[in-house]
Amino acid sequence: MSPQPTLTLAVTKGRILGEALPLLARAGIVPTEDIAASRKLVFETQRPGVRILVLRGSDVPTYVQFGAADLGVAGKDMLLEHGGGEFYYEPIDLGIARCRLMTAGPIGGAPRSGRLRVATKYVNVARRYYAARGRQVDLVKLYGGMEVAPVIGLADEIVDIVDTGTTLTANRLEARELIADISSRRIVNKGALKTKFALIQPLLDGLRQVVGAAR
Ligand code: PRP
Repeated sequence: MSPQPTLTLAVTKGRILGEALPLLARAGIVPTEDIAASRKLVFETQRPGVRILVLRGSDVPTYVQFGAADLGVAGKDMLLEHGGGEFYYEPIDLGIARCRLMTAGPIGGAPRSGRLRVATKYVNVARRYYAARGRQVDLVKLYGGMEVAPVIGLADEIVDIVDTGTTLTANRLEARELIADISSRRIVNKGALKTKFALIQPLLDGLRQVVGAAR
């Protein structure tokens, strides 16, 4: 007898995981142990053959792209930055972890007409965004704490996620232009949807119902 196929679901750790777990539970996917209380990265669930990987948001699209995970839950910001959309479908907007991807700079700072230096972890998104507006920019790749860059003089602007705006205000920055409204998306590896259709489709249907009911 061939072994039962497994489904691997990669979920972004942190706030997205916190908001996704109740949705997954309502769709019948419940980890067999408390994820928050463990340093493990792979968790079995009460649904036979379905396991959850807990990953950094930037790695979720990569795992799904290569089929190491069949499905993923990731912020739209990470999907825009990853740019690997030809490898996966994005069938469900989960409507969780909503925020905005924005440019921001010092409060009251005069708009600069010349070349801008922009600090961000979203270098691909930023490159496309400024290029579409004909702005010449030098991009500085950072991995977090972007808000300090204009304060210290490393950059003129940042491109980052804004939720409550508290972090900007605390660093005497203000939001400028909206790049994209962000929420978390369910993504599915294109190959897996074909080869594991019978397993994946009910899971997607369940999740669609849960998300629809929550709206
Ligand atoms: C995110 C983002 C901002 C902050 C925005 O950081 O990068 O710093 O949240 O939230 P606010 O508008 O409610 O203040 P996160 O805490 O995820 O850590 P990071 O800096 O490592 O990205």
